[in-house]
Amino acid sequence: MPIQQHISVLLNEVIESFDILKSGGIVADCTVGGGGHAEGLLSNYPLITLIGLDRDSKALEISRKRLERFEKRVQLFEANFSDLDSVLDSIKVQKLNGIFADLGMSSFQLDDEKRGFSFEKSAPLDMKMGLNTKSAFDVLNTYSEKEIARIIYEYGEERFSRRIARRVVESRPIATTDQLVKIVVSSIPRTAQKRWKSTLRRVFQAIRIEVNTELDNLRILIETSRKRLEVGGRLAIISFHSLEDRIVKRAFLSEGFVPITKKPITPSELERTSNSRSRSAKLRIAEKV
Ligand SMILES: C[S@@+](CC[C@H](N)C(=O)[O-])C[C@H]1O[C@@H](n2cnc3c(N)ncnc32)[C@H](O)[C@@H]1O
Repeated sequence: MPIQQHISVLLNEVIESFDILKSGGIVADCTVGGGGHAEGLLSNYPLITLIGLDRDSKALEISRKRLERFEKRVQLFEANFSDLDSVLDSIKVQKLNGIFADLGMSSFQLDDEKRGFSFEKSAPLDMKMGLNTKSAFDVLNTYSEKEIARIIYEYGEERFSRRIARRVVESRPIATTDQLVKIVVSSIPRTAQKRWKSTLRRVFQAIRIEVNTELDNLRILIETSRKRLEVGGRLAIISFHSLEDRIVKRAFLSEGFVPITKKPITPSELERTSNSRSRSAKLRIAEKV
């Protein structure tokens, strides 16, 4: 199957949220991915320089090509955004005027047959976004039943978490997404079978969050932003599920930040219909005070 281009979510809204960059500055795109948002920022704000991070080397290859024409205004790093602090130290940058993160996965990752992110594609249980130490295989085959139930409940907000965890442990070893799909579907009660797709989506999300320590990384990024943004600088984050959005919302109401809009910015009807991945997106913007 040909690899689809990743469509950047809320692109114009992100560009507008950084209008303070008209007069220049340094911005970090912490999830540079396919480079769409980075390209938008670089072409709309010709005086900025951009530091791009992604933990996925394949994503960086794509953005490197896409951003080639901006040459000296871009520096790209294969790094987890929880390490933004040390990346900035390594290039002797003290303060930033903008920090952006578009959380979650790109279409390249979701569509990659070998990575196991999608319950609709047969693949080994990997789900690693970068050079992590553990994979989905490790989580499902070595964690205790109690830990698996907690992960599915907390990170997937799935009410059949305990039944699913029990079946997972009984069915070990589990090596592929197909096996996991069968286990999940067979552990939910018949009355709930109608919504098996949403259960699968929640279970896959939960395992992915655990494999990639996504929520802790986000908390660390927000703390680093508090320290590294200039006063008047902006932090904009797009989240795709309520767990992430809750963390961002609370942080933006805490010391050091003032939210720019009361409510999160969500995609227009047109964007929702043309890009289904955008449907759950929420953009929150805060200013450093
Ligand atoms: C939704 S995509 C970003 C797409 C990008 N904004 C664009 O317009 O093409 C999310 C990217 O974030 C990366 N990512 C997720 N968590 C990360 C983390 N903790 N550190 C660095 N990159 C991360 C993923 O590898 C993925 O490439």
